[in-house]
Amino acid sequence: MKIPAMGFGTFRLEGDVAYQSVLTALRAGYRHIDTAQIYGNEVEVGKAIADSGIARSEIFLTTKVWNDNLSQEKFVTSVKTSLNKLASDYVDLLLIHWPAPPKGTSLLDATQSLVKAKEQGLTRAIGVSNFTIAQLEAIKPALTDTPLLTNQVEVHPYLTNLKLRAYCQQHNITVTGYMPFAVGKVLKDPVVTSIAKAHNCTPAQAIIAWTQANHLITIPSSTKAKNIEANLAGLSIKLTSTQLAAIDQLNCNERIATPDFSPEWD
Ligand SMILES: NC(=O)c1ccc[n+]([C@@H]2O[C@H](COP(=O)([O-])OP(=O)(O)OC[C@H]3O[C@@H](n4cnc5c(N)ncnc54)[C@H](OP(=O)(O)O)[C@@H]3O)[C@@H](O)[C@H]2O)c1
Repeated sequence: MKIPAMGFGTFRLEGDVAYQSVLTALRAGYRHIDTAQIYGNEVEVGKAIADSGIARSEIFLTTKVWNDNLSQEKFVTSVKTSLNKLASDYVDLLLIHWPAPPKGTSLLDATQSLVKAKEQGLTRAIGVSNFTIAQLEAIKPALTDTPLLTNQVEVHPYLTNLKLRAYCQQHNITVTGYMPFAVGKVLKDPVVTSIAKAHNCTPAQAIIAWTQANHLITIPSSTKAKNIEANLAGLSIKLTSTQLAAIDQLNCNERIATPDFSPEWD
């Protein structure tokens, strides 16, 4: 099973903005939508998918189980609630959102519940998000028959996350890089803007091209039709090895998503 190279991110998108943005993305050609229980927009994502007229089987839909729902008692029920909201019988990919289960639940327990959700047909594939190398190792005993499709983690030019990416590559776990634009910050970087100018493309398209050259699944978010469409077109841009190296060199380990329940990062 393969994840489409570019998905549409929906963090911070609420209500009608979430609905309109997802609908615009689907009409523009996106076939991969990334949501989560905590985003509070599963209903709007489901409605946009239904109203798009695109067959559900053509769309790759991901949701993520929130920390409070990681206990064995709550996990599968919470996934069924998500499916109701999404108006879908299944998701394509179900992720543990953060390695931060409630007291009394281990990461291994949560992973066993994730596998159970797959066995019950609630998702086609499973994965995790924000897991470190040590945590990926710790949950291995629960994954003897069901591989992890992805680890979704923060990756952008200011946080290249190379150690974790190398581990995932060695273990056949696709990396989905979230916040590819560092929420807009890297789009103003002079190195990125000059590379974009040389290619006659936008800084966002240059970053998308960088993610593709690095074999990352990317899930940028936008509320504007112009940006949503242009970002997708970034998939066909090829940067030179010198340009790719110049973007790699921007890494300064600047992490944006660091809630107080974050793990000890690699
Ligand atoms: N697993 C996790 O824990 C986790 C954590 C964070 C995020 N995520 C996922 O990753 C997705 C992406 O992250 P993100 O939304 O935080 O940040 P992002 O995609 O790096 O940046 C989004 C920002 O970039 C702007 N933007 C997008 N395209 C643009 C363009 N072509 N030109 C100029 N500005 C542009 C958007 O503004 P406009 O609306 O004005 O275009 C928005 O402010 C999320 O939506 C979510 O699905 C996952």
